[in-house]
Amino acid sequence: MSEDVLLAEHRPPILILTLNRPQARNALNFKLLQALELALSEVHVSEDLRVLIVTGTGDKAFCAGADLKERLTMSDGEVRQFLSRLRSLFTKIEELPIPVIAAINGVALGGGVELVLACDLRVAVAEATMGLTETQLAIIPGAGGTQRLPRLIGPGLAKELIYTGRQLSAQEALAAGLINHLAEKDTLMEISLALADKISQGGPIALAQAKHAINKGLDVDLHTGLDIEASSYEKCIPTEDRLEGLRAFREKRKPVYKGR
Ligand code: COA
Repeated sequence: MSEDVLLAEHRPPILILTLNRPQARNALNFKLLQALELALSEVHVSEDLRVLIVTGTGDKAFCAGADLKERLTMSDGEVRQFLSRLRSLFTKIEELPIPVIAAINGVALGGGVELVLACDLRVAVAEATMGLTETQLAIIPGAGGTQRLPRLIGPGLAKELIYTGRQLSAQEALAAGLINHLAEKDTLMEISLALADKISQGGPIALAQAKHAINKGLDVDLHTGLDIEASSYEKCIPTEDRLEGLRAFREKRKPVYKGR
């Protein structure tokens, strides 16, 4: 993994990935995109990982979106290629078989918000602001923002935010359902890790299937969604972990889940 623009900290069973370009407010350039792609491909093959946390270096920005200085040097074709890779990357994050938490340490704009939207849960410092500001730059959110924001907070507010480029304060984002929890600067990681720790006590197959059922169910009618839920439940039935959960209950002890 490229260590300068993306830091990886393993705290088994949690992995923390930190966008590390503070001098550019953690903006997404080709190098960071590539480092994230590589890190994500490693997450897929890892067996002892239960939760991923994504955050940014510093207390100013989580991620200021696309690197606008680099963008100015790109041809139209390179812009298309960058966006296509960024879109795939965020979809890959969304489809990871483990829950992903965005620990939003500062401002998130454009692609930074789109990254946040691809995560499952969001914790933000009170000073963070969040906005899809692309129309102000005569472009649109191109890595999932027009699709994921309305699904999360509803089309009315999403349209207003995308059309005007208005940034929400963390408090407004909480009220809108864009984030799950507010934190102080010095409690952001503590709260995010506590959430990750609580999640990681659940059965890994159950968590992967719950995530799959929720994500896939959002795009279909209720009856089809209930079929998706049934098939996800089915995957939990023959597992060792399901029996371990029942035994642990009977024996009044904590279950030890192995993802089998
Ligand atoms: N791409 C490239 N560089 C960026 C950047 C971006 N998206 N956002 C910030 N930077 C750079 C600035 O150019 C500046 O570099 P410099 O020191 O060489 O001049 C450095 O990061 C610090 O930025 P600055 O604006 O001084 O910091 P700030 O903390 O006062 O404000 C932001 C941070 C993110 C609010 C502000 O920089 C901003 O609005 N950036 C534009 C973000 C944007 O529009 N993103 C949407 C992309 S679709």
